[in-house]
Amino acid sequence: MSKLWGGRFSGSLDPFFAEFNRSLPYDRRLFDQDLDGSIAWAKALGEAGVLKKTEVSKLQRAIKNLRQKVKADPNLLVAEDEDIHSFVERMLGEEVGSLARKLHAGRSRNDQVATDLKLYLREAVQKLGACCHSLMSRLVQIAVEHPATPLPGYTHLQRAQPLTVGHHVLAYVEMLDRDRTRLDDAAKRMDTCPLGSAALAGSGMPVDRRQIAADLGFTAPTRNSIDSVADRDHVCELLFAMSMIMIHLSRLAEDWIFFASQEARFLEFSDAVATGSSLMPQKKNPDAMELIRGKAGRVAGHLNAMMMTLKGLPLAYNKDMQEDKEGLFDAIDTCSACLTVAATAASNLRFDRERCLEACSYGFLDSTDLADLLVAAGVPFRDAHERVGIAVRQAIQQGIELRDLPRALQQELFPEIDQPLAKELSIEKVLARRQVLGGSAPKRVRQEIKRWQKKLAT
Ligand code: ARG
Repeated sequence: MSKLWGGRFSGSLDPFFAEFNRSLPYDRRLFDQDLDGSIAWAKALGEAGVLKKTEVSKLQRAIKNLRQKVKADPNLLVAEDEDIHSFVERMLGEEVGSLARKLHAGRSRNDQVATDLKLYLREAVQKLGACCHSLMSRLVQIAVEHPATPLPGYTHLQRAQPLTVGHHVLAYVEMLDRDRTRLDDAAKRMDTCPLGSAALAGSGMPVDRRQIAADLGFTAPTRNSIDSVADRDHVCELLFAMSMIMIHLSRLAEDWIFFASQEARFLEFSDAVATGSSLMPQKKNPDAMELIRGKAGRVAGHLNAMMMTLKGLPLAYNKDMQEDKEGLFDAIDTCSACLTVAATAASNLRFDRERCLEACSYGFLDSTDLADLLVAAGVPFRDAHERVGIAVRQAIQQGIELRDLPRALQQELFPEIDQPLAKELSIEKVLARRQVLGGSAPKRVRQEIKRWQKKLAT
């Protein structure tokens, strides 16, 4: 294996350490970005008068050829080189001989890898955003089908008040929309080009860093060479954005796993995303959702690992920083896979309207409405709460719901309310009362659906 730094050494590397030191097995993902950076660098060296015009075009042609060669045979990347930068330099050498050795003037693998990674992340952010978008669209579609389907809402996992399926699912659309803005923010902050910072002190070649940044599609060059090569904020930030997505997905997974349980039976997953048991013939398990819930820990773990790697790390580049890639790449793969699987699960979900309605009908989910009716009749809320609480206690003793209280008892307990409770506490009325902005009323849900459809279309 040829090394980029052999001159100072007389001994050879311990083979086990050589393998331990290598990053090519995972940083080969940065192949295209490394080539993009090299094209820009060759141009910059040409403009700075370090390379002749003919040398620049020869190098750039060789880089293009190399891209084609690897595209045709990706296995070429399974090589012995130390890292992607060494691989590219060796392969260019095979094309243009010693000219390849001129390309590294005024450049270091430190600014190279920092640039490659930012270029790679720029695309990753786009892809993750697109995955969020398609899941959001699927969720909105569920709301379209169920703007008024009642669903028991829980606090403390105790039935609380009726919601609509549409309202519940749109809660996750809100979360994913914030996630998208977090991705965009991260992309904005990583939009500065480190190339030309060299090892840590800034390139010794008189390159135009503004031009390099523009050539690589960055808004601006970084402003401090030390920070340029030592900064991995963007890695942490993207890992956080992805962790948050995964945490949201894990909560969605948990809600739907519970909704699909025999205890709830509010929904059924399609066969496309459920599995059976090797022993119990009757089982239909929500594996897709469980895996998503499980993988949330893995992505959040990568965030923690990266922050711990950076903690206390002296300026500027240290080899510790090579550890920035594996977890990051795994997080990107995991997060986008989970978004995709969640979208598949969402596309084929079947809510059981009758079962949902039944679940909303028992357990005094309308108690708050009765108290609100008393408030409307002028009763102070605390008194109303107390009186409804007493009524609930009596109803529990009789094994009935509030709406079933005998008419005489209703008149005795709540003389302020003339209409029969059965009418006032119907599920339609209870849902329709939540008309406040952000509320669960079907009318509101329909408005929100329209808002999201418009927003997602742009
Ligand atoms: N493979 C290295 C990494 O991923 C590239 C930078 C190496 N720099 C160095 N000074 N050894 O971080």
